[in-house]
Amino acid sequence: MIPDAPIVEIAELAGVDIPTNCTSGNCGTCLVRLISGEVNLPEELPPGLDEELVAAGGTLTCCIRPVGSCEIDLIPPL
Ligand code: FES
Repeated sequence: MIPDAPIVEIAELAGVDIPTNCTSGNCGTCLVRLISGEVNLPEELPPGLDEELVAAGGTLTCCIRPVGSCEIDLIPPL
């Protein structure tokens, strides 16, 4: 079962460290690329994310939770 937690915390449980800074969706430091699976995007995107990044698979791991299993690439879609 997937813990009800932001992606960064679930990755940490799996032994994967994702760099963070603000931990509130503002700086973009924790940006990764979603390869498969779904995330629970807020209706209003946080400042560190925009529609273009979302279209490229970008997601902020400090504040966005997965809907189920997902696969991420730690290299962000920049
Ligand atoms: S750590 Fe700043 S947006 Fe995630």
